[in-house]
Amino acid sequence: MKIQSRFKEYEVIFEDNKVFLRDLVSKPNSEIVVDKNVYELYKDCFEEIPSERLFVVEATEKNKVVDTALDICERITEIPAKRNATLISIGGGIIQDITGFVANVTYRGINWIFVPTTLLAACDSCIGGKTSLNYKKYKNLLGTFYPPDEIHICSEMFHTLTERDFKSGLGEVVKFNIMAGQNGLKNIEDNIEGLLERKPQIVDQFVHSSLSFKKKFIEVDEFDKGERIKLNFAHTFGHAIEVVTEYEIPHGTAVAIGMIMANSISEKRGLISSDVVNRSEKVLLEVIDIDSNLLDKPLEEYMKAIRKDKKQVSESLTAVLISHYGEKGELSVVHDVTEQEIDYAINYFKKLYRA
Ligand SMILES: NC(=O)c1ccc[n+]([C@@H]2O[C@H](COP(=O)([O-])OP(=O)(O)OC[C@H]3O[C@@H](n4cnc5c(N)ncnc54)[C@H](O)[C@@H]3O)[C@@H](O)[C@H]2O)c1
Ligand SMILES: [Zn+2]
Repeated sequence: MKIQSRFKEYEVIFEDNKVFLRDLVSKPNSEIVVDKNVYELYKDCFEEIPSERLFVVEATEKNKVVDTALDICERITEIPAKRNATLISIGGGIIQDITGFVANVTYRGINWIFVPTTLLAACDSCIGGKTSLNYKKYKNLLGTFYPPDEIHICSEMFHTLTERDFKSGLGEVVKFNIMAGQNGLKNIEDNIEGLLERKPQIVDQFVHSSLSFKKKFIEVDEFDKGERIKLNFAHTFGHAIEVVTEYEIPHGTAVAIGMIMANSISEKRGLISSDVVNRSEKVLLEVIDIDSNLLDKPLEEYMKAIRKDKKQVSESLTAVLISHYGEKGELSVVHDVTEQEIDYAINYFKKLYRA
């Protein structure tokens, strides 16, 4: 799959099995950055790499900071290649965010190859080119746009993900299908069991269709000025859930909860039918697995988190809601979400989940 970007055209390559990894990491003039868990699980692929060419990072939000980025920059300066150096990074969204930043700022941009090893990174974040670092208490405050030159996806690697991380990725897969309209909804209803069982063919098919869906938005609006904002469907609420639970609930799961909240508001506003709401909920509840007590926080905490979100542009609250549901789903960016609606949506979700 080829992605058009203002920077370059780049390619997503689907690999049959993890054998490709050995060849990839032996590329000359490269520095390899790998997620610590991935390194431990796939050690045999890294056996032949000299230690100075291998940088292992623990994938935590605490490490997604400029200090880690500078350590990697320093490593790159130590290999003989300069502007023709290649950074190869292997891991989930955390590794992607750090290494994309590094590849962008080192020598004003070096080659970058990314191997997403989480479902979330493979079905969603690996394309679109966003890089981010956390700064002090601000998540993703520092960032740039810098897509990789190549992305290699090998779904065999998702077998080692924990149930929690796999289901978080499924949250975004379900999101793309619900956004797509009637056909997408039917497709995800028919396949959610196979996805939960991690059936390789089904997982591959949905990673591919999720990226194809996202591709249309990022190619027309790479820098998040218009159409791409719609991909933030459910994210205003999801982001608030991540913040109030101090990231105990992972991103894709928070987005899945955010979808139930967003649709409860759409239904209350008379924008979508109860049939669409009920069917979406049934699929979403299959991928949400949380301790719902984590959500028992005062409304002010949710409101504070929403107001601080980058997506908020004015005093009134902005969110992306489904505004019409036909063969295609139509999404609208609305700027008039009220505090009462947020309160309603949180309680709606808790009641539904606890039933
Ligand atoms: N740049 C973007 O467009 C974008 C989009 C969405 C999210 N993000 C960022 O991505 C991050 C979340 O990323 P994520 O959900 O991919 O998770 P992650 O990178 O936090 O990884 C989750 C866990 O899975 C482990 N892991 C990774 N691959 C594995 C494998 N194959 N087998 C076993 N364990 C494995 C990691 O070690 C980690 O413990 C957040 O920091 C978020 O802000 C970025
Ligand atoms: Zn997301």
